[in-house]
Amino acid sequence: MAEPIEPETERLHLRQWLPADREPFAALNADPRVMAFLPSRLTRTESDALADRCQHLIQQQGWGLWATTLKTSDQFIGFVGLHRPSPQLPCSPCVEIGWRLAFDYWGQGLATEAARAALQVGFIDLNLPEIVSFTALGNRRSRAVMERLAMVESGTFAHPHLPEDSPLRMHCLYRLPRPA
Ligand SMILES: CC(C)(COP(=O)(O)OP(=O)(O)OC[C@H]1O[C@@H](n2cnc3c(N)ncnc32)[C@H](O)[C@@H]1OP(=O)(O)O)[C@@H](O)C(=O)NCCC(=O)NCCS
Repeated sequence: MAEPIEPETERLHLRQWLPADREPFAALNADPRVMAFLPSRLTRTESDALADRCQHLIQQQGWGLWATTLKTSDQFIGFVGLHRPSPQLPCSPCVEIGWRLAFDYWGQGLATEAARAALQVGFIDLNLPEIVSFTALGNRRSRAVMERLAMVESGTFAHPHLPEDSPLRMHCLYRLPRPA
């Protein structure tokens, strides 16, 4: 068990998950616009299981994929944070930064704002030497967040957990070293 690190930004809280997050999280995981570059939309059960895993990892480590809320209203908008991906990925062992926001909150700079706070945790609190990110080649919005964070495009790889004929299989990898 670890005391959770819960970063804040000008507009956002990144915090441990609460039971009330489950419903809006399931709604965004069922939205085809949000899930367009992920393998499949999630059922309520799958979405709850993912929220449980995020909550458990924050409980264990103090950091992870944080439930992200608007400061003005406490509205849950999705997750942003840090995660150790599958050991089968070519970049592993590594820590990735990731994001998934409800469609209504796109286009306001919220993912980038939250991601900057997550990077601070990774580089300052966790003293990581590098943070990576990856996504399906066609995921322009996610790549744009990586580029706004000054992450460096570092090649492509076939995602080992996606079928060979999946149009999402080819991924691009971005890397960001700890600032000197
Ligand atoms: C990836 C994702 C989080 C990006 O969201 P986003 O809204 O495009 O990114 P940001 O929150 O950083 O917002 C950037 C946009 O807000 C605009 N913006 C408005 N106000 C802004 C502000 N104050 N600061 C910065 N940007 C601002 C920017 O101009 C930019 O607009 P544009 O996309 O029209 O160029 C979102 O598309 C998503 O959740 N996708 C589904 C999940 C997913 O694919 N995750 C990655 C899987 S690997």
